[in-house]
Amino acid sequence: MKDLLKENQITKLLGIRYPIIEGGMAQIGDGNLAAAISNEGGFGQIAISGMSPNKFRQELELAASKTSLPFGVNIPISGHFSYNEYFDVIEENKELISAVSLSSGDPRSYIPFFKNLGLKVMVVVGTVKHARNAEKAGADIVICEGFEAGGRNSPYELTLFSLIPQVRRAVQIPVVAAGGISSGQGMLAALVLGADGVQIGTRFIATKECIAHESYKQLLVDSNDSDTTIMERSIGGVNRVVKSNYVDGVLQLEKQAISFQELFPYINGYKNKLGALQGNLEEGWVHAGQSVGLIDSIVSVEELFVQIMQELKQSHQSLFQNVEQILK
Ligand SMILES: Cc1cc2nc3c(=O)[nH]c(=O)nc-3n(C[C@H](O)[C@H](O)[C@H](O)COP(=O)(O)O)c2cc1C
Repeated sequence: MKDLLKENQITKLLGIRYPIIEGGMAQIGDGNLAAAISNEGGFGQIAISGMSPNKFRQELELAASKTSLPFGVNIPISGHFSYNEYFDVIEENKELISAVSLSSGDPRSYIPFFKNLGLKVMVVVGTVKHARNAEKAGADIVICEGFEAGGRNSPYELTLFSLIPQVRRAVQIPVVAAGGISSGQGMLAALVLGADGVQIGTRFIATKECIAHESYKQLLVDSNDSDTTIMERSIGGVNRVVKSNYVDGVLQLEKQAISFQELFPYINGYKNKLGALQGNLEEGWVHAGQSVGLIDSIVSVEELFVQIMQELKQSHQSLFQNVEQILK
């Protein structure tokens, strides 16, 4: 196993022990969880989605008070939104963080700002073309995210198994794999396909340190492989969420081809907050990825890291034996 992780590009670039990044998670990716993940040797990230600039500043300070290890910030780039106040907070606190991840929109015009602050820039992509563009624009790391992932995905809907080796072939910079990875086995598979590290979202929700409502965490424990679905296709979005009566209602509305303005009251961040933080799944919705069926307990972040690294080691050994057998 040491060989696989030796001279790892991600651990070197981010100054961390294990190439495991916390995916930005709207509403629940706070400073406490980011610090807990960094303290276990991963790379925690505070997600600005769902936070006011003031709250974001507080979460940055909180994370910095709970860890002396590197952590970062996730910023989904959307055309309709002004990020200036968040960028000011990042500039004022640039010593506290070591990298940002940019997702959702076109990151190219934003990259120089962060690079000039001395931060590493990671860009979340869903196609080879976007990976190439990110590299050309100066990104340090590409995070290729498959359609299995919880949260908002690329409209191209490529799955991770196909995406990793094609992105690996297309770019020189380090590649991180995201989507459907909840275990050491998944991590090993990503490394075998050519990734240098992994980004995990869904599995970190069912941890003791996550601020998500207990009933959301329990819902993940109780959910199976087919318990997620895609919302927002009718308005050009791809948002992977947990199935529920509420989400069924949204999908029915989408069948009526209603406009974005009409749909917005049902799919907005407030409705996500209701589900994620208050556990109100009658009036709100929550995200999860397809590997949710692998989650069978709510554990501490420390226990999760121990578990993932044990699984990685064991699956590496059995893979090795299996391949030896095949090659004989
Ligand atoms: C609850 C939740 C919220 C998310 N919010 C964001 C977000 O605000 N920004 C972002 O770039 N990705 C977001 N994602 C995607 C994650 O950063 C990550 O790439 C993804 O969860 C990886 O797939 P997995 O869920 O199968 O582990 C979210 C995912 C989840 C589960």
